[in-house]
Formats: sequence, C-alpha cells, structure tokens
Amino acid sequence: MAVRQIRVIGDEILTKRCKPVKEMTPRLKELLEDMFETMYQAEGVGLAAPQVGILKRIVTIDVDDGNQYVLINPEIIEQEGEQRGYEGCLSVPGKTGIVTRPNWVKVRALDDSMEPFELEAEGLLARAVCHECAHLDGQLYVELVEGELMDVEKEEELEEESGEE
Ligand code: NI
Repeated sequence: MAVRQIRVIGDEILTKRCKPVKEMTPRLKELLEDMFETMYQAEGVGLAAPQVGILKRIVTIDVDDGNQYVLINPEIIEQEGEQRGYEGCLSVPGKTGIVTRPNWVKVRALDDSMEPFELEAEGLLARAVCHECAHLDGQLYVELVEGELMDVEKEEELEEESGEE
C-alpha cells in the first residue's frame, strides 16, 4: 500500500470525465487500498480516483459510520430533500464553502468484487456520495458554492462566534 499524490485544483485531470471500470484487476485492488490510505492520511471522508490521477469511475468513502464504502461506476438513482452546509475537498486544500445537496440519495454501484449493490445514504454520507460522484464527471464543489469560497480558519472563527464547537 502507498499514499498517492493528491491532485489539486488547476490540474486538468480533475476536469475530465472518468471511464467506467470493466473488470477488477490486481492493479485496481491496489488502487483501492491506496485510495483509502491516501484518504485517511489526508484526513478526508471521501476520495475519487481522478484525485490521484486515475480517470476511472471509482470512489472511496469513510464517514466514520463503521463502513468503508467502495463505489465503482456509481449512479445516483434517487434523491430527496435538501441539506445546506460547509463542504471541503482534498483537491482544494485549506478552503471551504457552503453547498446545498440532497439530504438523502440512493446510489447504485459495484463493490470491490464487481458485485452490484444499492446504498441509501443520508446526511453527511449523502453529501459525500454526491461530492465524490461529481468528481467522476470532472466537477468540483467550488462550482456549486453559495457565496464565497473561504479559508477553513475563517469557517472555524465563524463557528466559534456562533458558539458552536
Ligand atoms: Ni473532493
């Protein structure tokens, strides 16, 4: 396993549409392991393959709910409700901004054995699914930010002022 380099905004690869995965290979297994390691090391909750320079439709997510989600060729097939909140991205270091996302999504994908499954996600997990799936179509959350993109420190200050932890 290895930590891979995370591509940052401005890198053209982050704007490209990724290709579907056709079969699981030892190389892709290794990529999945590396994506989790890279994500944990960077303290992120989600990572999409293009963020480590691979133009394939692969997402890893861990929102600390006890699961390590692997979504291959994911498709959001249903969505409901709305949530408005701060979002960040490992490819846009030090920044955050407010994005409105569905509060609930149903996603259809393949797992790491290329077996199809459906996942119903709510709250932070739904936000992560939407954010990571957008990466696969070359979209960054900064395009969806309401108001200004701000520094992470600024968000922390605002939270302190409003008495949140
Ligand atoms: Ni991201």
